[in-house]
Amino acid sequence: MSAAHGKVILLGEHAVVHGRPALAAAVSPGVEAVARDAPGEGLSLHVAPWGAVFTAGDGTDLGRGLAGLARDLDATGARLDAVMHLPGAKGLGASAALGVACARALSELRGVALDDARLLDIALAWERVFHGNPSGVDHTLAALGGVGVFTKAEGLRRVATRAPVVLCIGDTGERSSTREMVALVASALARRPAATEKTFDAIAALVRNAALALEAGDARALGELMDLNQVLLSSLMLSTERTETLCRAARAAGALGAKLTGAGGGGCVIALAGQREGEVRAAWEALGVPCARVEVGA
Ligand code: MEV
Repeated sequence: MSAAHGKVILLGEHAVVHGRPALAAAVSPGVEAVARDAPGEGLSLHVAPWGAVFTAGDGTDLGRGLAGLARDLDATGARLDAVMHLPGAKGLGASAALGVACARALSELRGVALDDARLLDIALAWERVFHGNPSGVDHTLAALGGVGVFTKAEGLRRVATRAPVVLCIGDTGERSSTREMVALVASALARRPAATEKTFDAIAALVRNAALALEAGDARALGELMDLNQVLLSSLMLSTERTETLCRAARAAGALGAKLTGAGGGGCVIALAGQREGEVRAAWEALGVPCARVEVGA
């Protein structure tokens, strides 16, 4: 069984597409995949929780992604079975984790050596099918795991966390498309370049301070920086009423900070729970939102 991580972006989504840093952490379990020979067939992918089957070149995004894997890993005549432990289209890096787990499973089956650099190249090509213009943060965390500051130019710089950080993850129930959200920000940048670049710069400053807060174990500062990031993400029209409701409820319950994570336009909210995990959980459950707990930097 080959595995890959999901991810949460603590701060910096979208700005990272435009060259700024993002602070992100791997979430496990993400996706597991196994490959076996299927002589005479193309390359197929069976995704357990969805009960769905995709084949290379079937006209879907997954079919296009599989065609790339088949080419890069000499992998026609194979069947992949994947188990998703993450919901799709919720900002938790499910598509990148699926690509990395499948690439690893196929390389194992075919005996193709896959060092990190080659794996990251293959996974980037996979992500481009889904997201058009990915920064690379999702597939890098999916492959390498851990916690760190990611930039397009320099990749992942690991951050040594002084203490594990407990995050509550709440699902708004609203599906969103990363491709569309990234395009929305690109059009804001085209229409108002100076103001949008300034917003990205402000987010970058928050990210740098958040990395320091994480290293210092200063959860209060980290929470405040997450709240400020949420304001800037809202100003880019990436929040929704439901997202704001979950953030407000988490803060009212005592969370140190709360924000959307990933592409926005719905998807998931993260709350830095501090000592108030039970209270945040109860507040969200009162809104009909189940709360998942992740510990990053443990
Ligand atoms: C998606 O998880 C994060 C975005 O910043 C897109 C990307 O970095 O590719 C919205």
